[in-house]
Amino acid sequence: MIPRSKIDEIIGAASIEDVVGEYVSLKKRGANLQGLCPFHNEKTPSFNVSPAKGIYKCFGCGKAGNVVNFVMEHEHLEYIPALKFLAEKYRIDWPEQQLTDEQLAAEKQRSSERESLQIINNFAETYFANTLQHDEEGQTIGLSYFEERGFRPETIEKFKLGYSKDSWDHFTQTAISQGFNSELLKKSGLVKESEQGKLYDAYRGRVMFTIHNLSGKPIAFAGRFLKKDPKSPKYVNSPETVLYHKSNELYGMYYARNAISKLGYVYLVEGYTDVISLHQAGVENVVASSGTSLTENQIKLIKRFTENVVVLYDGDAAGIKASLRGIDMLLEGGLNVKTVQFPEGEDPDSYCQKLGPEAFATYLDEHKKDFMLFKTNLLLEDAGNDPIKRAQLVREIVESISKIPDAFKRMSFIRETSKLLAVDEQLLVTESNRLVRTKLSGEAKTSIPPIESSLPTYQQELRELVDVQHHDAQEKDLIRVLLWYGNQPVEGFHHVAHYILHHLAAEEIALEHPIALAIIEELNEQLSKEAEFNSNYLIHHSNPEISKFAADILAQPLEISPNWERLYDIIIDPPGSNYLQDANAALAALQLKNIDKMIRHNQDSFNSAETDEEIENLQRTHIHLKELQANLTHKWGTVIVK
Ligand code: UTP
Ligand code: MN
Repeated sequence: MIPRSKIDEIIGAASIEDVVGEYVSLKKRGANLQGLCPFHNEKTPSFNVSPAKGIYKCFGCGKAGNVVNFVMEHEHLEYIPALKFLAEKYRIDWPEQQLTDEQLAAEKQRSSERESLQIINNFAETYFANTLQHDEEGQTIGLSYFEERGFRPETIEKFKLGYSKDSWDHFTQTAISQGFNSELLKKSGLVKESEQGKLYDAYRGRVMFTIHNLSGKPIAFAGRFLKKDPKSPKYVNSPETVLYHKSNELYGMYYARNAISKLGYVYLVEGYTDVISLHQAGVENVVASSGTSLTENQIKLIKRFTENVVVLYDGDAAGIKASLRGIDMLLEGGLNVKTVQFPEGEDPDSYCQKLGPEAFATYLDEHKKDFMLFKTNLLLEDAGNDPIKRAQLVREIVESISKIPDAFKRMSFIRETSKLLAVDEQLLVTESNRLVRTKLSGEAKTSIPPIESSLPTYQQELRELVDVQHHDAQEKDLIRVLLWYGNQPVEGFHHVAHYILHHLAAEEIALEHPIALAIIEELNEQLSKEAEFNSNYLIHHSNPEISKFAADILAQPLEISPNWERLYDIIIDPPGSNYLQDANAALAALQLKNIDKMIRHNQDSFNSAETDEEIENLQRTHIHLKELQANLTHKWGTVIVK
């Protein structure tokens, strides 16, 4: 736990224009600064920084937040590491955790092993690269191999490609003569020990690929055998070490991270050479799973940078079928998945080399398909007219769909695939709901939100979702008024914030948006302690969700009216001209929304009502709610209407 005072100290010291200015060239525009957004591709600047408020907001992609959020977003860090990053930058002491002596010793041991292995890997990377470039065997065998594959010198250099000589222990001897410890060399996996106790090179007569961590340090190696020998594996990879956990890494991430952030999606390929060829062709947002099926940590790693993945398959049918499962995992992780298929016998590397950069880029654009629809079509082709196979296929598709955590996405896939499969939409909904529920009861802590079983049809579910989204607007308006005018005076109250909180409680106005709700709850507590309202408190809140939400809202001009006029025929002054009116409008809008929702729920119940008595009850409720609605419109209307 970092003490609040420390967080305040860091936020106080960090200036948003300095921190952002390191990454973005900012120009003065009135009270604000403006530049090209670092989070999406743009030619005209829509990224704004307000030094006074301590926030940034991009009107192009919508990203917004305070200085800590910026570091989190840009450096792909969690909240505490982002604070630490700023503390280091501004030379503020960082409170280190208290460790026991034992923990301290183990930690020292681990960190010294890490450091030593890192030095060995740095050395090896240079050794292999030098051998490729300057050694005679390296040049004639290694370098010419890479050249034959179409890799240009600058590509070979960029990816630190190398060569390990076809000799018993040339690397080992060089490393030992440099003073490296043989135990550590063995741990690194670069050196092995024979049964007679003799040390020898793990990679002999292989071209070498270096695997880098996110900051570009060499943490592992892969050596490709050059002869076609069915007995020995094509690639030999480093073992697990304190530096390298295979299941946590994706090859090429260091070189791809900026492009992924800029472009907003990543290409996922299988092999090292696919990554390298695509880079050479100018496609830099690409990483490789390195042949094995994806792990949860690899999916998490992708999610730190983007939610959009385009999977590039090898072009053979067996390979595609084998990777379907792995791709389901991406869906389960909440990612949006597209795919591009290549002609039989081609992989991304070979096809890219064959077509050349421009034609290849065009091919990717033109053949990008949504994964779920691609899979449906693929299985459909397979099943032909066989009814049993078709039934199986429907089950399989629904199973895939039910793994998607977002209910809204699930629904839209169901709609599309039901067309493709020529199956009733309702049937798919029921089946998918059943699977989601089974999954929910199986594992309690899943992120898949349940679909209310009392909402049996797709239309109803969709409407609920739209309702929730619609609701957002009202809740955001309310928070917006709070942030802009919270401290303004109101007769009979301390200020606008006090006025709003009072009415929310007195009229039992429900908030659904979790962040808006959290903000109101916090303010209730805050204002019970001190009378002053200060919006800075929210902008620099230690919960990054709250600070982002607040910054986003504060950066946007107040605009309450559009739905108002449309829904209730109430004309109000332009926002901001009368803050009390804005506060009332925001409160009333929320209240009316709540009533609207109750009315609709009530109407839905008509469909399932069986007895006359039930129907009468529902009618009475309906009339009552309608009256409430009219009263409210009238009440607020008299306040609001000119
Ligand atoms: P591929 O067999 O598709 O190799 O394996 P590739 O990357 O296309 O290599 P080239 O083009 O033949 O040189 C895909 C990935 O699977 C892993 C490697 O990461 C490889 O890049 N792999 C494959 C291994 O780790 N060991 C193997 O023996 C084979
Ligand atoms: Mn290949």
